[in-house]
Amino acid sequence: MRLVAGNWKMNGDRALARDLVSGLAAKAAETPPACALAVCPPAFLLDAVAAAASPAIALGAQDCSDEAGPGAFTGEISASQLAEAGCRYVIVGHSERRQRHGETSALVQAKAARVMEAGLVPIICVGETLETREAGDAQSFVTGQLRDSLPLELAAKASENGEGPALVVAYEPVWAIGTGRSATTDDIAEMHTALAELLGPLRARTPLLYGGSVKPGNAAEIFATAEVDGALVGGASLTLDAFWGIATAA
Ligand code: PGA
Repeated sequence: MRLVAGNWKMNGDRALARDLVSGLAAKAAETPPACALAVCPPAFLLDAVAAAASPAIALGAQDCSDEAGPGAFTGEISASQLAEAGCRYVIVGHSERRQRHGETSALVQAKAARVMEAGLVPIICVGETLETREAGDAQSFVTGQLRDSLPLELAAKASENGEGPALVVAYEPVWAIGTGRSATTDDIAEMHTALAELLGPLRARTPLLYGGSVKPGNAAEIFATAEVDGALVGGASLTLDAFWGIATAA
């Protein structure tokens, strides 16, 4: 089953959490979508989203600490605290954190490990800048990023047990995020095929999402692309009609 996850970033308030998520729950009850849905609001809205959601809507966080905690880590939230808040997913290594906060793949790997240790599913983000793509290095850069961000042993163990996604990988070209300029389906297919190869036996339990200017108008062709199992949606996850439009294309 495809996964469509909304990344609200630093957007939203209690009214949006209530209205958008209860609207989504109502639509999903009326016409169950063919995909799994997740909403990843800012941490202060996790409770509000959980209260408005239905079992059809999973809760996700946008980041977590690389420390298991509890402990003296001001401003951080641990993966186990996010589990208690009702999260199923935690985004790690989004390019906005890699770029603005200098997060390295080693740090992202540690965060993904904490997420899996807490019994949750990391959404590990990877993606190249325009400069890297124009230099012809996109594929080696992005596969290298995934190799270095993946807690391999834990991922292998998680893949052996249970059902559903053990981890999720989101390919998000930095130049396509929030720009209205999505990657071409050829570029997406090429990158996802390389990521699938790298995942090897983990691939069966690792949905590969595309992210970067996914909208209702381009979702169907993106979902029809080889090795694409869903989308990580930023801007278009902030309005009910747009997010639902993407979900119904899945
Ligand atoms: P966008 O963001 O859909 O607004 O391009 C995607 C993301 O950053 O996850």
